[in-house]
Amino acid sequence: MPADSIVLQHGLPEAHFARAAAIYYAAFGRKYRLLFDEAQALVLFPRLFDPSHAIVALDGGQLIGIAGLHYEGSGFVCWRWPAYRETFGLIGGAHRALWMRLDSEHPPAGELLLEALAVDPARRGQGIGSRLLAETCAFARARGYRAVRLSVVDTNPRARALYEREGFQPVRTIHVPGMQWAAGFGAFTKMRKPVDDA
Ligand SMILES: CC(C)(COP(=O)(O)OP(=O)(O)OC[C@H]1O[C@@H](n2cnc3c(N)ncnc32)[C@H](O)[C@@H]1OP(=O)(O)O)[C@@H](O)C(=O)NCCC(=O)NCCS
Repeated sequence: MPADSIVLQHGLPEAHFARAAAIYYAAFGRKYRLLFDEAQALVLFPRLFDPSHAIVALDGGQLIGIAGLHYEGSGFVCWRWPAYRETFGLIGGAHRALWMRLDSEHPPAGELLLEALAVDPARRGQGIGSRLLAETCAFARARGYRAVRLSVVDTNPRARALYEREGFQPVRTIHVPGMQWAAGFGAFTKMRKPVDDA
């Protein structure tokens, strides 16, 4: 069970940007391994974050988990060309920015996309991800969204089990040949959970 000292809050304070980048990279770095290494990611990600599109978990003032949300037309990890140019230069930035643009996803109208769910590796398995998930669904419901969407890769059965347990149903599986070597997965499944009690 999570400690009582854990609080969830909407919005990522700027003081936690660096730690958020580290947690994010620890969770998803494998996917980006051909684009940037950890040191580069720790510079790039804070330049891409939209702090208003996150629900975060804090324990004793320390960031331990993040739910990155895409709604009202924008997400938590934004596509900002100047951030790529400043981090990698003109040529290096261009192809990375293009790849990240192709990788970005938008939710259907009336639905909220959970772009990313990541918990500090040292704090996994303590209920923090489940609480962030529940808070994301509550937020979506309060904002009048019909459903929450997310995607999970085929090499992450534990995360998928968590989502199924929390009421998410698979909608569609998309196979991406070649990505196994490049990014560590061969397919991903889009999942959806209605939150409007209809
Ligand atoms: C997936 C993740 C967000 C879950 O958060 P959490 O706080 O560990 O989850 P909870 O404690 O609330 O729930 C535990 C369940 O989460 C899943 N889980 C736990 N550790 C996990 C891990 N290292 N990787 C993936 N899923 C994990 C399992 O389903 C687990 O249930 P189990 O113990 O019965 O197997 C977190 O483990 C994480 O950041 N993993 C790496 C990033 C990731 O896979 N994100 C999801 C991408 S779709």
